[in-house]
Amino acid sequence: MVKSPVKPNLEGSAAKTKALKENILTPRFYTTDFETAAQLDLSAQEMELQAMLAEMRADYNRHHFVRDEAFDQSWEQITGEARQAFIDYLERSCVSEFSGFLLFKELSRKLKNRSPVLAEMFNLMARDEARHAGFLNKAMGDFGSTMDLAYLTKNRVYTFFPIEWVIYTVYLSEKIGYWRYIIIYRHLEKHPENQFYPLLGYFESWCQDENRHGDIFKALLRSQPKLWKTWQSRLWSRFFLLTVFATHTLTVHERTGFYRVLGLDPTEFDAEVIRKTNETAARAFPSVLDTEHPQFFSRLRRCCDLNVQMADIDSSSQPKWVKALRKLPLQLGIVGHLLRIYLIKPIDAEALREIVR
Ligand SMILES: [Fe+2]
Ligand SMILES: [Fe+2]
Repeated sequence: MVKSPVKPNLEGSAAKTKALKENILTPRFYTTDFETAAQLDLSAQEMELQAMLAEMRADYNRHHFVRDEAFDQSWEQITGEARQAFIDYLERSCVSEFSGFLLFKELSRKLKNRSPVLAEMFNLMARDEARHAGFLNKAMGDFGSTMDLAYLTKNRVYTFFPIEWVIYTVYLSEKIGYWRYIIIYRHLEKHPENQFYPLLGYFESWCQDENRHGDIFKALLRSQPKLWKTWQSRLWSRFFLLTVFATHTLTVHERTGFYRVLGLDPTEFDAEVIRKTNETAARAFPSVLDTEHPQFFSRLRRCCDLNVQMADIDSSSQPKWVKALRKLPLQLGIVGHLLRIYLIKPIDAEALREIVR
């Protein structure tokens, strides 16, 4: 077995981990119904899954996540808002990679004797996510703030998702992860003067891992007719697309400093990632959102404005109940905008597939 060059750093102070700012946008840890997962009938996509398994075993990135000499220097010159925004970016990315690692590892453990193909697949995906999280954690170390991943494992709340929701959401998070990494990478290829830290130069091969993980989840999704052939699946697809996109928009606009240092316009970057992910999702989901509708991005942006107003209220020194009362109309405003986006006439991805055929 090939050893991963980077292991998650299990050292560091719990105090720093606890300092992780918690809000609705903080990446979560998930658990699922392992019994149902073990019983999934994968026969409809068996060839695709075997092909993906062969690719995962080939382990194209086994030598990729090794820190070269470009990291051997001080990063004190990155200061102020840019430094904080970058640390925040690393922190959230590390938590979400690590969250993927834990879920995949647990799935591979629980399915070991019951669904060997899936168990091996999850084990290999966990291998990749451990490398990603470890690499990000080392980068955080360069900025004086490693995360205690062992502490995080024990002390975070695990959210239960039925396996069907796991398939929709992990598919989307892998594909949106792919687009986020590759868009930054391609931008920096054109503007190398903005590549302020060597980690960013690793994104090209890194995002291929996420792309492969997404393709595995696509095969899982298409192996289950109830996840794409039913009217309920059309509603769920759009629901998860919208929640992932809304989270993305709010998160990007909460740390605009990071994107500005890269020379990217945060609003354009966000829209590009959402458009591309939605287009990609049309290959797996039965129904996707109409991102070209004139109200689509304008309403998402209104949600960002409301979210910024809520953050201002949160940082005030008022009593908790006053803050909650003041935030309520803003929260309702966000829900209202999201509902209106959800009700925009969707795009029938199954019909598109028929035309392509
Ligand atoms: Fe990853
Ligand atoms: Fe991944």
